[in-house]
Amino acid sequence: MTKTILITGASTGIGKLTAIYFAKKGWNVAATMRTVEKGKDLLSFTNIKLFALDVMDEGSIKQAIDNTISAFGNIDVLFNNAGYALVGAFEAMDQNQIKKQFDTNVFGVMNVTRAVLPHFRAKKDGVIINTTSMGGLITFPLYSVYHSTKWALEGFMESLQFELKPFNIKVKNIEPGAIKTEFENAIDYVSTKAYDNYTHQAHKNMLDSYKTAPTAEVVAEKVWQAANDGSYRLRYPVGGQGPLLLFMRWLLPLSWFTKMVRSQVEKGIKN
Ligand SMILES: NC(=O)c1ccc[n+]([C@@H]2O[C@H](COP(=O)([O-])OP(=O)(O)OC[C@H]3O[C@@H](n4cnc5c(N)ncnc54)[C@H](OP(=O)(O)O)[C@@H]3O)[C@@H](O)[C@H]2O)c1
Repeated sequence: MTKTILITGASTGIGKLTAIYFAKKGWNVAATMRTVEKGKDLLSFTNIKLFALDVMDEGSIKQAIDNTISAFGNIDVLFNNAGYALVGAFEAMDQNQIKKQFDTNVFGVMNVTRAVLPHFRAKKDGVIINTTSMGGLITFPLYSVYHSTKWALEGFMESLQFELKPFNIKVKNIEPGAIKTEFENAIDYVSTKAYDNYTHQAHKNMLDSYKTAPTAEVVAEKVWQAANDGSYRLRYPVGGQGPLLLFMRWLLPLSWFTKMVRSQVEKGIKN
């Protein structure tokens, strides 16, 4: 039987390229997004259907899941991918910005996961794949709140895998390094005078890493591997410097690793 993946945040970037990748491999794809008009070009694939889904709106999540099951009869893989980054000086961020970051990157993933679980549990089969980040296991300056959402996801999923295993539901985290998508354009950047000297240069240095970053195709390939390898492997580092940095973080004492990050990200900052 033809398999089906439901993807969140499929309007651009990793979600969109993953939708195309799976469609070309013959899967049915429920490409979900906040604004379905953005996904019109995906409709050139007859096995892709677009459904409205905002990860912060539980009604839209239920509707999109019901629509996917009606259209394709089943969901085999949920790909929790939607997300964005709030970046800058923590002191300058207000509660609404921080709440929106957690609502999207953490509670959004929890909302969609909880909504799909009864379907997976009933058929004793399913794979939950999440785009966390290399930033779910290591940190860089200015991303304190973004990192805390991705670290939360890593912990959430690492624990969740235990109770889902008896139902044959697999949990997998895709951990990309810098990837060329709309991500950098969607960054919500915040600073204030007292921090500007540090934040502006560090932000520029961080953005420079996107210049040589690979495209989202490499992530789509990794999602394909995670969806099809049949294993209970949890972590899949991918893309650019990501896998190497995660290996170095594992290898080195934190103080050495932090020194290495500073030497790159704080280049050109005068104290
Ligand atoms: N690119 C990187 O360097 C990188 C590295 C590590 C991890 N990641 C993670 O990869 C994931 C995908 O990012 P990307 O790089 O592909 O960036 P992107 O091109 O900006 O795509 C982000 C997607 O998330 C969607 N989205 C945002 N808020 C949403 C909400 N409330 N409900 C539903 N969809 C929402 C966006 O939809 P709209 O079009 O409606 O805005 C868009 O489709 C994110 O979780 C990100 O944190 C990215």
